[in-house]
Amino acid sequence: MERITIKQASDYVGKEVEIGAWVANKRSSGKIAFLQLRDGTAYFQGVVVKSEVSEEAFQLAKGLNQETSILVRGTIQEDSRSKFGYELVVSDIEVIGESHDYPITPKEHGTEFLMDHRHLWLRSSKQHAIMQIRNEIIRATYEFFNQEGFIKIDPPILTGSAPEGTTELFHTNYFDEEAYLSQSGQLYMEAAAMAFGKVFSFGPTFRAEKSKTRRHLIEFWMMEPEMAFMDQEQSLEVQEQYVAFLVSNVLANCDHALDVLERDREVLKKYTQLPYPRISYDDAVTLLNKNGFDDITWGDDFGSPHETYIANSFEKPVFILNYPKAIKPFYTKPHPTREDVVICSDMIAPEGYGEIIGGSERAVDYDYLLERIREFGLNEEEYAWYLDLRKYGTVPHSGFGLGLERAVTWISGIEHIREAIPFPRLLNRIYP
Ligand code: 4AD
Ligand code: MG
Repeated sequence: MERITIKQASDYVGKEVEIGAWVANKRSSGKIAFLQLRDGTAYFQGVVVKSEVSEEAFQLAKGLNQETSILVRGTIQEDSRSKFGYELVVSDIEVIGESHDYPITPKEHGTEFLMDHRHLWLRSSKQHAIMQIRNEIIRATYEFFNQEGFIKIDPPILTGSAPEGTTELFHTNYFDEEAYLSQSGQLYMEAAAMAFGKVFSFGPTFRAEKSKTRRHLIEFWMMEPEMAFMDQEQSLEVQEQYVAFLVSNVLANCDHALDVLERDREVLKKYTQLPYPRISYDDAVTLLNKNGFDDITWGDDFGSPHETYIANSFEKPVFILNYPKAIKPFYTKPHPTREDVVICSDMIAPEGYGEIIGGSERAVDYDYLLERIREFGLNEEEYAWYLDLRKYGTVPHSGFGLGLERAVTWISGIEHIREAIPFPRLLNRIYP
């Protein structure tokens, strides 16, 4: 008898198989027991008919608790009533690991309770669906960048530099030296772009942000492409193609997950249409002021109500271009004719999901960068290697960072970023 996964059931109709699974739920009457089975690949139903199995097997089935692990044997049968289309007519059950008083029952639970049980909560169908979408976004990222001729480069996690500012660093010891956990791999990716042309990274990043919002994690994963000989306009094209590609692939490959999450496909389809709109920071401030936001003046960074208003003015993700110099990092390219803004962009997701991409064209002039490093109070010696990139064949280059969990939250259509990562690190939470 062949051991298969639930997902493979369609290839085994009429055949006898064995499946390793957990009992997600169960209903039974005097003559029949329905087991809702999950094995990580999918869910389907096991039907145990009293008259067709031994008395012992039937009693065992009736007594199975939620999350007991079993080896179950039987015949795959088509079942037009089930969403999945197949079920297992059970002939025999072997208990592998018992489960008693499983804490997460089908009733409603509070968020803190679920977060305390994240190690078990991950087994639920909604969490399963979100993780499938996360996996698809990661898979499609590799496909997109490989197909576009990028090579993957892995920047370090332990670093001595602070690309995104010094206030949000996690400090650690590196033997006798001070070190930080990476906030962004960007500076290293710039070095890599000078070596390989078009590169991308995908890895964990850390920010000691004291923000408790539905968009912020302390540890999150970022995709960071960096491209030599590319200006901002060319980078925006890569960004919109990439995001549209992610949405298309989720639509094509995550059918069941989208059903579970009740995500409206028609809404997602709009995000596959290019180009995405662009608005300057200046015009975004004017738009907000004209529409009752008098808490914003030129020079301020946008908060989430502002981003949401701007996003709602468009049907698709929108780029906000060229922010004030004072609120962007030291490495951002100065505007050729204006002192007050820099060449950068944020991509704001629709439906109130906020910024999903931050990107910019990078400053290429050695003296300008040195001056900025000093202005930011950064240690020149620690950035000597970065300045070298402007000494030996500097070229125009651009790059961006997409926050994986922001993208997962948005594409899945879920409320809170904490469900977009298996084990979220949040303000005041490092358990489990
Ligand atoms: O806008 P950020 O800070 O940009 C950078 O780090 C650049 N160095 C990237 C680059 O050009 N290579 O962060 C990029 C993205 C944001 O747009 C957001 O999606 C995500 O990372 N992000 C967070 N996601 C979850 N929790 C947080 N605390 C995040 N901070 C940023
Ligand atoms: Mg940003």
